[in-house]
Amino acid sequence: MQNHFSILKRALHFLLLTLIISEAIGQNQLQPSDFLSKDFHAERRQKLREKMTPGSVAVFFANPVRNRANDVDYNYHQDPDFYYLTGYREPNAVLLIFKEKQKAPSGPDYDEIIFVQARNERAETWTGRRLGPAGVTAQLGFKMAFNGAEFSRYPIDFSKFSQVFFHEFQNDVRNEADSADLYDLILQFRRKANYPEVNDLVISQEKPANNLNISQLETYMEELRGIKTKEELDLLSMAVKISCAGQVEVMKALKPGMSEREIQGIHEFVFKKYQAEDLGYPSIVGAGHNGCILHYTENYRPQVDGKDLILMDLGAEYRGYTADITRTIPINGKFNPEQKIIYELVLNAQEQAMTICKPGTPFRDLLVATQKVIAKGLMENGIIKEEKEVRKYYPHGCCHHIGLDVHDRGVYDKLEENMVITIEPGIYIPLDSNVDPKWRGIAVRIEDDYLITKSGYEHLSKSAPRTVKEIEDIMTLPSALDDFILPTLKKD
Ligand code: GLY
Ligand code: MN
Ligand code: MN
Repeated sequence: MQNHFSILKRALHFLLLTLIISEAIGQNQLQPSDFLSKDFHAERRQKLREKMTPGSVAVFFANPVRNRANDVDYNYHQDPDFYYLTGYREPNAVLLIFKEKQKAPSGPDYDEIIFVQARNERAETWTGRRLGPAGVTAQLGFKMAFNGAEFSRYPIDFSKFSQVFFHEFQNDVRNEADSADLYDLILQFRRKANYPEVNDLVISQEKPANNLNISQLETYMEELRGIKTKEELDLLSMAVKISCAGQVEVMKALKPGMSEREIQGIHEFVFKKYQAEDLGYPSIVGAGHNGCILHYTENYRPQVDGKDLILMDLGAEYRGYTADITRTIPINGKFNPEQKIIYELVLNAQEQAMTICKPGTPFRDLLVATQKVIAKGLMENGIIKEEKEVRKYYPHGCCHHIGLDVHDRGVYDKLEENMVITIEPGIYIPLDSNVDPKWRGIAVRIEDDYLITKSGYEHLSKSAPRTVKEIEDIMTLPSALDDFILPTLKKD
């Protein structure tokens, strides 16, 4: 008995100590630990290699740093293809993936090599830590990682490859004092691969080499990125859950007189509270007829009117993966009869598409299914006369992949297991429409996220209330923000 007690005591003591230690590690952790694993990225590179034609090489560049104004840049965001294949989240880097093993002057043969930003104490004091080649080797699992400046000296004869795959360059890279920034890496690549550009830095009379291929990589990446792995699904589901939580909190907190910005802020505060690092796209919060602007991101209306609807299309980005969810709700908590008719029409259209949401269904059929329901409803309510007029009030597509991009790379032929897509029908009736005035200014979009399963779908965003009753019910609940009242600020 005595013995059992002391074992139990020691076990409890150990458990407590473990909890204290893991808590301490959590507090000292420099960054979240649930990013994609290095094994994921290595496996994705291998999958790409398997698709590549014999004797080829694929070349990827990091996203450029983009200037916001003067000496301030936008927050850096990695190119999603580059991130998918590497996990590297810094600028000024180039990745080469070879179909076959390459001979190294010394050391083992290799089939991939990455050049990254050099460590630099001064730069890191200003703009943050860098992994450098050693960090890339240790944390991201690359065996061949070098400073960017090495790329110009790297002996590679691109003419020997059957194909050199790369994405066409965006023309917004700037040249910094740094001699191995993205500008220089691209310049070196152009010279090495004989892909001349007539500008003041590369003046060449030569024709581009004919093994250069700027279109195929997109197809390869669409095939890979369109089908999500388990690791990706975990992160994507978290992005969706967080975005739903934002919708729920706004439904409780919304009051007439708030500004569109303030409502946007509540969503985005919830995202950050759950440690989402970014937004997948600029938030769309449009009250009344502002909702008719499909990608309205000004969110500038100072006071929303109780009699209007508000359309809110937002997605948290969690470890690179973004949700894409839209809810449209009555600002005073109750749909009026016209709002309810339009809302339920859009909801029925979405439900109709959901009935055919399974492997084998062509993407296009989802759109057609939503258009049919909406056209019929608009005709019954005298808003349009003929089915073909539906595009006037439902002018966009209904479905797209989501993932590292909100409009993610993916094949748009038929639905397949482990794709993640949106279904997002909408009706938008601008103020100047030639319809009964009671319909004018109504804008409704309902957008949900779905994982395609073996025989159907999983409705990932179902925790955000969606029916008229669910929305009206939740809007009667109190909010933690009801007491968050700030003093009025007056101009002097
Ligand atoms: N949020 C952009 C879209 O719905 O496609
Ligand atoms: Mn969408
Ligand atoms: Mn959206």
